[in-house]
Amino acid sequence: MIPTTIDATRLLDGLAALGRIGLDADGRRTRLAATDADREGRDHLVARLAAAGLEVAIDRIGNIFGVWASEENAAAAPLLLGSHIDTVVNAGHLDGCYGVLGALEVIETLKAAGTRPARPIAVAAFTGEEGARFAPDMLGSLVFAGGLPLDEALATVATDGARLGDELARIGHAGTLDPGHLRPAAYVELHIEQGPVLEREGFRIGAVETLQGISWQKVTITGQANHAGTTPMSMRRDAGLAAARTAVFLAERANRSNTPTVATVGRMSFAPDVINVVPARATFTVDLRDPDEGRLREEEAALSAHLAGLEAEGFAVTVERLARFEPVVFDAAIVAEIERVARARGLPVRRITSGAGHDAQMVARLCPAAMIFVPSIGGVSHNPREATADADLVAGAEVLLDLVVRLTGIR
Ligand code: GLV
Ligand code: MN
Ligand code: MN
Repeated sequence: MIPTTIDATRLLDGLAALGRIGLDADGRRTRLAATDADREGRDHLVARLAAAGLEVAIDRIGNIFGVWASEENAAAAPLLLGSHIDTVVNAGHLDGCYGVLGALEVIETLKAAGTRPARPIAVAAFTGEEGARFAPDMLGSLVFAGGLPLDEALATVATDGARLGDELARIGHAGTLDPGHLRPAAYVELHIEQGPVLEREGFRIGAVETLQGISWQKVTITGQANHAGTTPMSMRRDAGLAAARTAVFLAERANRSNTPTVATVGRMSFAPDVINVVPARATFTVDLRDPDEGRLREEEAALSAHLAGLEAEGFAVTVERLARFEPVVFDAAIVAEIERVARARGLPVRRITSGAGHDAQMVARLCPAAMIFVPSIGGVSHNPREATADADLVAGAEVLLDLVVRLTGIR
């Protein structure tokens, strides 16, 4: 019998249990990649994969896989499902974890029902998707897809100065397999939308057909430290003010543009960082995104021109590129299949563009890939208030179940 329902309690309890890992003394959930908290989450996941009877494997960039294969299907390329379990600082409990535990739930359901898929089904939890500690984001899946050499990735230095390779070894998650050891036939990622569109428009499922381009840069502006009381405004080279002007410049451009362009300055620090000293140096990050590659380039060029203007005023400016990924178009056949299975269940579905970065955008370099979104209440994410109605979490996992049945030839 082909199952049509998942075990809702197992899925929701599993999400709650993983979500309790990495809470600090103030109850803030933070499992940055390759930290002790991430190790706890990883160990918890590995135990769950093993308990489900999956073959657990970890590759050299720390990507975790749980594979369900049988003697009769072992030679076929696997269908890969998954996402990530690392988090940003003070995160919600669904971003990434829903895709990993939703995939595990689908596999456990199919296994328990005694189905015999024509190809193995595997779940992956990719390393460092968030990019909150190690840039670029989607690092584990990028290496898996061959987009970044392993040694370069392992040498990546964290915001706290640690080296990724050392940290993976320290937490016991530097595996032995070469990234890319597993060649998927297709990849599907279940995820919360993390934006307001599905809820606002009354849809329960998003069939993600595109994902916007991402540009991350770190800018350092150097001016001159001076006395905050005695230096006339006209005689300052205030690096902090120059940084603030840059943030306002980007936001005003994005606001005026009447396009989906978004611009964020998420980190900023000053030196010497003293109340009565004009800042000599400001360092800040810029996150620019747009579904259109041409427009994204225009935004990058506008930022460069703005920074050149600051140089002309006497500031020194350096720019480091942290991440750059072009917009991605997902596999049309899988997107259409997601729509079909959602409609067959009577779930209102629409096609959607992902505003967030996802591992699927990297794995799409290897094989046909697509994503299933469920609504985010209030469009809130990267925030502990991130939430999705239980019924929607279950519906999304059941759409994944139906899709997996179709993609693995279960009859
Ligand atoms: C990843 O979560 C991103 O889109 O920043
Ligand atoms: Mn995510
Ligand atoms: Mn995220």
